[in-house]
Amino acid sequence: MKIVAIANQKGGVGKTTTAVNLGAALAEMGKRILLVDLDPQANATSSFGLQDIEGISLYEPLLGGSSITEKIFPTRREGLFIVPADLDLAGAEVEIARMPNHLTRLAETLKPLHTDETFDFVFLDCPPSLGILMSNALAAANELLTPIQCEYFALEGLVKIVRLIEKVLDSGANERLELGGIVMTMFDARTNLSQQVVADVRKHFGERVYETVIPRSVRLSEAPSFGKSILEYAPSGPAAQAYRALAKEFLKRHASPASDVATVKTHSPENRET
Ligand SMILES: Nc1ncnc2c1ncn2[C@@H]1O[C@H](COP(=O)(O)OP(=O)(O)OP(=O)(O)O)[C@@H](O)[C@H]1O
Ligand SMILES: [Mg+2]
Repeated sequence: MKIVAIANQKGGVGKTTTAVNLGAALAEMGKRILLVDLDPQANATSSFGLQDIEGISLYEPLLGGSSITEKIFPTRREGLFIVPADLDLAGAEVEIARMPNHLTRLAETLKPLHTDETFDFVFLDCPPSLGILMSNALAAANELLTPIQCEYFALEGLVKIVRLIEKVLDSGANERLELGGIVMTMFDARTNLSQQVVADVRKHFGERVYETVIPRSVRLSEAPSFGKSILEYAPSGPAAQAYRALAKEFLKRHASPASDVATVKTHSPENRET
């Protein structure tokens, strides 16, 4: 079981959309996926129509009140499960901060999942902030999957993420964290900017950037309001095809553990040759 934090401190770059639809595409390919909604905004949760239920988030497990296994819900897609979020999670930020081991609470909470081997991958849909929940995700994850919007400041954002990973490594909270992959999202083939940004990010981050690029698609933004992933909402459109291709690539990268994912330091822009 691999724990993948879908993270970028920047808001609105496609973290939740990628968590939901990559998760759905992997489930379609027969993998068992647990999506953990770590964002008090609960966007991933409402993407599955689970938003109106109280007391079903990771809040209690994080504070030691119950086990994560009691908070796992099936979705309409076989093989795809979710631990929902609710507003209580915002309170967890404050309460966890007061606890001992406040950076490793999530890692502890996820431990039971390692022993029963139910899931192939756990996706942590992170909030767009550098708060306690995001730090906990970085401390618990094997790797980061970072969606980046095809826009002008993409590289600046990535540099920040690389620094953040280095900080986590240095702190000792997690010694194995890697930047596993970068997914370019909201690509608009009609604009030079999109093409330029993808080329730049590839130049600096090389193979770490997924070949598959997610196109800008109105369908992708509509699907959550129907409680559906793109695979149910517009199964044969370009966005669904893109997330299927991303899932294929993701599995290829994870076929031989740790072989394709180099350590973060070797590819950071600071070390690049110019
Ligand atoms: N490829 C895409 N094409 C068009 N719209 C998209 C695409 N990906 C995401 N969106 C839309 O952009 C908005 C932000 O996407 P999303 O919620 O996935 O980002 P996020 O990084 O999770 O945001 P936050 O930081 O607030 O959690 C949403 O309205 C979503 O539907
Ligand atoms: Mg989100």
